[in-house]
Amino acid sequence: QQSSSVRIVEVGPRDGLQNIHDSVPTPTKLELIRRLRETGLSTIELTSVVSPRAVPQLKDCREILRDTKVKNLLQNSRLRLPVLVPNEKGFKIAIEHGVREVAVFVSATEGFSKANINCTVQEGIERAKRVAALASATNGAGESQIAVRGYVSCIFADPFDGPTPHSAVLHCVQQLLQAGCYEISLGDTLGVGSPSNVRNLLAYLKDNNIPLARLAGHFHDTYGQAVANVWEAYTCGLTVFDSSVSGLGGCPFAPGAKGNVATEDLVYMFDNAGISTGVDLARLTEVGTWISKQLSRTNSSRVGTALMIK
Ligand code: HMG
Ligand code: MG
Repeated sequence: QQSSSVRIVEVGPRDGLQNIHDSVPTPTKLELIRRLRETGLSTIELTSVVSPRAVPQLKDCREILRDTKVKNLLQNSRLRLPVLVPNEKGFKIAIEHGVREVAVFVSATEGFSKANINCTVQEGIERAKRVAALASATNGAGESQIAVRGYVSCIFADPFDGPTPHSAVLHCVQQLLQAGCYEISLGDTLGVGSPSNVRNLLAYLKDNNIPLARLAGHFHDTYGQAVANVWEAYTCGLTVFDSSVSGLGGCPFAPGAKGNVATEDLVYMFDNAGISTGVDLARLTEVGTWISKQLSRTNSSRVGTALMIK
């Protein structure tokens, strides 16, 4: 029996913006978050607290988190508003600003791990574990509960090392679950996988006792396979998918990779199948058109452009 609803994790304000060269004004980022929330999205990754040298675009993360409207959203316990953090420093800054959910990230492969977070896969896992331990210590101290989400990047291939063995993905997923992550998002960072790859990897993880209910899909769209990958993952049993409005996105350390699957395309696909996302497609389309204009970019959502032309 397949689920009649899915949860969309909107990563536009973080993954969507991090690879844009020209600095996006902070008020535009804040307006993007506000408009995304108005569409009904209940999970929005707000920003990342990473080295400003690594990702200059998001060096205004403190201003984002200090904004009064964002503060109000953070107090709404019905929303999930994760902030991406690479280490304890990022975690502490996020928590000081009232963040209640952080996302840690590791790569299944050595090449991307070194390029992205300047350490080995195992060191990355240890860092993520230290963040999760800090979160659980904070929770133990009786403050409001901090949730930790995990990402595993390069699930199919690494930009420097080539194809990724399934066992490398399994190792990271097991380690992050053991560390206390409530959910692991599987990242096709390069956007090279297709549905058969998705099916094979999910079958392998399931055979190795990973509960599919703890997994999410995070597909970049370099080869135009991302919507198909989401549907395949859904039919395999996943119900949580990361996406970016207007298909923004990409990682500065994954050369050649394109944006995330567009949120509009997912909402359209699930709406047509009678599967609820809680998102208003017409409003979302307007946000996609608006942000594309603000960033002077072509809207990468096929659904978004089709609906606006009508
Ligand atoms: P490093 O140079 O090895 O570490 O970077 P460091 O500890 O020596 O720190 C270097 C400088 O950064 C220092 O500043 C630190 O204080 C500062 P300095 O003393 O030189 O002025 N620093 C920080 N500043 C703010 N917040 C922090 C922080 N930590 C250190 N949290 C490090 C290691 C991990 C910090 C760096 O490599 C980094 O920040 N990497 C993040 C890169 C990134 O954000 N990549 C994109 C996100 S991942 C992604 O897109 C994939 C995903 O979407 C899933 C998928 O698609 O697969 C999630
Ligand atoms: Mg990504």
